[in-house]
Amino acid sequence: WLVVALIVIVSYLLGTIPSGLIISKSQGIDIREHGSKNIGATNVWRTMGKKWGAFAFFCDTFKGWLAVYIGVKLAAHFGVTIPLPHEHTEIKHLPPDYAGIAAALGCIMGHNFPVWLRFKGGKGVATSLGVIIGMMPLVSLIIFAIWGLVLKVSRYVSLASLVAALALPITVIALMFFGPSEGWAAVHGWGNFYFGVAAALMVFKRHTANIKRLLNGTELRFGTPKPQVT
Ligand code: G3P
Repeated sequence: WLVVALIVIVSYLLGTIPSGLIISKSQGIDIREHGSKNIGATNVWRTMGKKWGAFAFFCDTFKGWLAVYIGVKLAAHFGVTIPLPHEHTEIKHLPPDYAGIAAALGCIMGHNFPVWLRFKGGKGVATSLGVIIGMMPLVSLIIFAIWGLVLKVSRYVSLASLVAALALPITVIALMFFGPSEGWAAVHGWGNFYFGVAAALMVFKRHTANIKRLLNGTELRFGTPKPQVT
């Protein structure tokens, strides 16, 4: 449990790095006062253009991937020594899958609820993609493709994020049963499915305002200037 706690804390702290806000501040803009007021990559893109938006997306995705990478390494490094009879000992490590899940949840919580910003963080879409790249690469490819397709067809980033979130647990369970059983594309264990459900619920929770705007037709399509939303 100590190892789990360490992984969650390290990942949470990594998640709290508000890439979008840092990038906007570096250009003399407070992203929280523009567009959707969100600190995420979409709003940076919307307010500051493609170059900075793509950079914010990269940074938020990268920190998610890094959290899982560090989490798995920490689990492999710190084991619990279990004494066995005849002066033998066994070192038990947290399985990499569970280390990844702990790191993923910690990092998403850090991004969405950063202590430094009075817990007012982002919506966790790019960060979730990053952790999934680290945990289940094939799942990340599939849901990124779904996200891109919905964005292309609808030009709503929020709708694309919501559909991709919904597709996450479905893709995990489909690959668990019908995917490869070994190699980089393999998906094992119900823990990953439960993680998928939790991450999807979190994305929906953080998009409450977007869902309302989508339903009443006031959500602006990607590429058109967005009025100040309160
Ligand atoms: O990833 C966040 C996106 O789905 C919506 O962002 O700024 O339009 O609320 P935004």
